[in-house]
Amino acid sequence: MLRTHLTTAWKLRYPIIGAPMAYVGRGRLAHAVSQAGGLGMIGIGSNEPVEFFEREAAIARGADQQPFGFGLMAWAIEKRPEMLQAAIQARPFLISISFGSPEPYVELIHQHGIYLATQVHSREEAIQAERIGVDLVAAQGTEAGGHTGEVGTLPLLQAVLDAVQVPVVAAGGIATARGVVAALAAGAAGVWVGTCLLASPECENTEQARARIIQSQETDTVLTRVFDVAQGLSWPPQYAGRALRNHYTDQWHANVEALAINDQARQELAQAIKEKDYDRAHIYAGEAVGLVKQQQAAATIIQQLGNGAEQLLQERYRALL
Ligand SMILES: Cc1cc2nc3c(=O)[nH]c(=O)nc-3n(C[C@H](O)[C@H](O)[C@H](O)COP(=O)(O)O)c2cc1C
Repeated sequence: MLRTHLTTAWKLRYPIIGAPMAYVGRGRLAHAVSQAGGLGMIGIGSNEPVEFFEREAAIARGADQQPFGFGLMAWAIEKRPEMLQAAIQARPFLISISFGSPEPYVELIHQHGIYLATQVHSREEAIQAERIGVDLVAAQGTEAGGHTGEVGTLPLLQAVLDAVQVPVVAAGGIATARGVVAALAAGAAGVWVGTCLLASPECENTEQARARIIQSQETDTVLTRVFDVAQGLSWPPQYAGRALRNHYTDQWHANVEALAINDQARQELAQAIKEKDYDRAHIYAGEAVGLVKQQQAAATIIQQLGNGAEQLLQERYRALL
């Protein structure tokens, strides 16, 4: 049994959080992760209808009443505050608010007995998060899949662990027991993993996307604003998204200003998304995609990470000390 804040105070079997992943990580994935002993989260896209929350929460909770979380974006809540209300009403264990400050919502969330997490991208953001009373900080490195910052997980994790007392988990690039051990040995309370779950059948990816994920190497991603700009999404420009490189990113990544005013190129992406043509459409994934080699049930992945880390820690400590 690994003893960290997540397993003692939060009573998880493993100190592993299944990252919120908008549009692909919903109730089904969250339930599988929590049932396996981690904490599963439901990703909330900026245009998710309010009915989505209760529906997916029921699936995540399941008949066996598993805990689960929601992951929202601060900039999206500013535009649609009803999303936070719907999240609270669905009674999650954890709400994460990232990509902007969760400060305006701390009190409300705590009043409802819900824990609050945020992903940070600098030491300064971690200090702010602690100051406003966040319960868990995820240090999200640039190698993470989806939207993220520019500092690598390891330098960020070291800076954040030195700077704050609040429990910290490492996010970005962790997809094997070795990665879990590295984070725990550094002093993290756990890990926050997304990419390693992308090829699991509980993830709402298409078969074609799963096949691409399995074939991809760690060198096949790009951190880019291309897909946000082409879809007219309101992502703050400092947060680009890490996705698999394809023809569309090759064409537009160095040319985002031109893309913003090119209607034809924007329509081309919309069409590609409809046709599941991943030479053009996006698949968000992190550098850890090179470690995803087969389709595996989410429960198997979580248990391998957790049990593997326990075993590896025992062996490594014996060998090292
Ligand atoms: C497909 C995908 C979608 C994501 N969507 C969200 C999201 O909606 N909200 C969020 O806070 N983080 C999102 N993330 C980031 C994850 O929460 C997490 O930081 C990341 O997956 C961790 O790094 P890893 O992918 O290397 O495991 C997403 C990541 C991926 C891969």
